Amino acid sequence: MTDLLFSGVQPTNNLHIGNYIGALKQWTELQHRYHCMFCVVDLHAITVPQDPALLKKNILDIAATYLAVGIDPKRCTLFIQSEVPEHAELAWLLSTIAKTGELERMTQFKDKSVKRGENVSLGLFSYPVLMAADILLYDTTVVPVGDDQTQHLELARVLATRFNSQFGETFIAPQTLVQKTGARIMGLDDPSVKMSKSAASTYNFISIADDADTIRKKCLKAVTDTEGGVAYDVMKKPAISNLLTIYHHASGISIADIEKEYAGKGYGEFKKGLAEALITMLSPIQKKLSEYTSDPAELKKILDAGCRTAREQAEKKIKIVKEKMGIGR
Ligand code: TYM
Repeated sequence: MTDLLFSGVQPTNNLHIGNYIGALKQWTELQHRYHCMFCVVDLHAITVPQDPALLKKNILDIAATYLAVGIDPKRCTLFIQSEVPEHAELAWLLSTIAKTGELERMTQFKDKSVKRGENVSLGLFSYPVLMAADILLYDTTVVPVGDDQTQHLELARVLATRFNSQFGETFIAPQTLVQKTGARIMGLDDPSVKMSKSAASTYNFISIADDADTIRKKCLKAVTDTEGGVAYDVMKKPAISNLLTIYHHASGISIADIEKEYAGKGYGEFKKGLAEALITMLSPIQKKLSEYTSDPAELKKILDAGCRTAREQAEKKIKIVKEKMGIGR
């Protein structure tokens, strides 16, 4: 049996280069080594309020983005989470063995709930259990994610092990795949916080869909460090180190070679080079993205096929889980 890889993205706003560098770019490489399932996790998106019409559009845009970055639908299963009801069902079953204390410790929940004040839904709290269900439903062995998801993955492993010891061997505890560099791309306007789709300012991120002028403008406005010089030093120069990481992933040039290229040059010149590297990386993706979004019939065919494949496997697994737990007839 080939190892199974599962990953997903929430359909909230456009994806940014952090999502691409931290997750999607490695998916395109990993699809040659694993059987892959890539999911648009719309049930996760509604844990915070969404505009329903916009959400519907975003779901298809994210699916089209998977294809545009180079995910091959002939090799991989692409599908939408809410179209496979077993995700929500398994999330409920797993919620009966998850402990509230474990969920209270999740840093992403703490961050998001602080921002929302009183307005914290039960769904936002149990979000990591749904994520565990996504993964465990398919006997996933590897999950490639950015650094911010590792704590959620640890919970998935804990739940798999706990279920197995309570009800007998059922789930595989998956391995987390996090890249050595680029797993946490920081905000362009503030290198102390990660780049985020929901950031207050659009100068925090570069969206996959940003045009060349916007990319140039955002790069030029990116904050820099007080100490001059293009050199990688996360402690002393967090802003430039983040830009160097982005430059490296956009161009494929090593950080040491980029440092050499800009030795003795100012930040302005470096930022211009960074912008051009990003434009070169993103323009073929944008071209393909507009091809896929203008051909909804093709996208529908791919997602329908993905849904069938996912459901087939999910139905089998949920039957086993219910049997082990003794529920139903
Ligand atoms: P989401 O939609 O927030 O992000 C999608 C992927 O992008 C990575 N990422 C980043 N990587 C580097 N730098 C950043 N600034 C950055 N921001 C985001 C994330 O780590 C992620 O890999 N809960 C997940 C979606 C999910 C999932 C799953 C993932 C639901 N079920 C099962 C894997 C397996 C999320 O909200 O990702």
